[in-house]
Amino acid sequence: MQHLIDFAISKIKNAKKPVSFSGAGLSAESGIATFRDKSEHALWARFDPVQLASQEGFRENPERVIDWYNWRRETLSKASPNAAHTTLAAQHNWLHITQNVDNLLESGGARENNVIHLHGTLDKDRCNSQCGYSEKVDLANPKARRDCPDCGDTLRPAVVWFGEALPEADLMRAAEAARKTDLMLVIGTSAAVMPAAGLIDIARQSGADIITVNTEQSNRAQGRAQSDGALDSDIELIGKATEIVVQLFAN
Ligand code: OAD
Repeated sequence: MQHLIDFAISKIKNAKKPVSFSGAGLSAESGIATFRDKSEHALWARFDPVQLASQEGFRENPERVIDWYNWRRETLSKASPNAAHTTLAAQHNWLHITQNVDNLLESGGARENNVIHLHGTLDKDRCNSQCGYSEKVDLANPKARRDCPDCGDTLRPAVVWFGEALPEADLMRAAEAARKTDLMLVIGTSAAVMPAAGLIDIARQSGADIITVNTEQSNRAQGRAQSDGALDSDIELIGKATEIVVQLFAN
């Protein structure tokens, strides 16, 4: 393992346009539940994504959806960035593309402009009919269901649900960065959800080195889901994000 870490460190030191691409595993050690790993605490093992993360589920029972997100918001309000967040955040020449809806990279010190939230953020509500209204949410005291003051539809968390498009400008910026990067550090994602996970393929096909950090083997992140077999340049580091990421940037 140490020789792989050393190899990864040398790649990181030489990278010209490095990006990180993270998922729920990055925040797991801050006490934020993941969605679909082996833990029985994983959210999609305990809750139905159709009920809680789709337009259909929201139309059926908006209070249920908002209560669930407010519970996640309150949990997040008590969480602190972990060592992987603060280490990444200190790399001001990196672009951080994340699927996470928490703000732990930013509260760990990352500049807002260096972080792309592909799946939105919990600290905002927006109008469900996209009239353009949005407002900041106090994570510790989120409000119950209420109407949009501009158009009267219902406000909802400004996150992306299944079946919805990703924020276009953010996706374009992330895809452009994936095409241009020479090194993508993939941390704590099952790489199961498209189109976000496709950014790894874009980076790999553009010739970037891919370094993955995960407590488990990660098939797509490691190119095994692909037929082109472009695996030789990939580096897979199995372990906790806090332990591995800190080592990667130790000096
Ligand atoms: P997942 O829950 O699918 O995957 C989390 C990954 O993190 C798994 O591969 C774990 O093995 C790994 N992991 C867990 N703890 C870790 C640790 N301490 N260090 C390193 N790795 C660890 O989460 P995502 O890939 O982020 O979408 O899921 C993608 C999207 O699916 C989410 O953004 C969310 C969900 O539905 C939306 O909300 C739109």
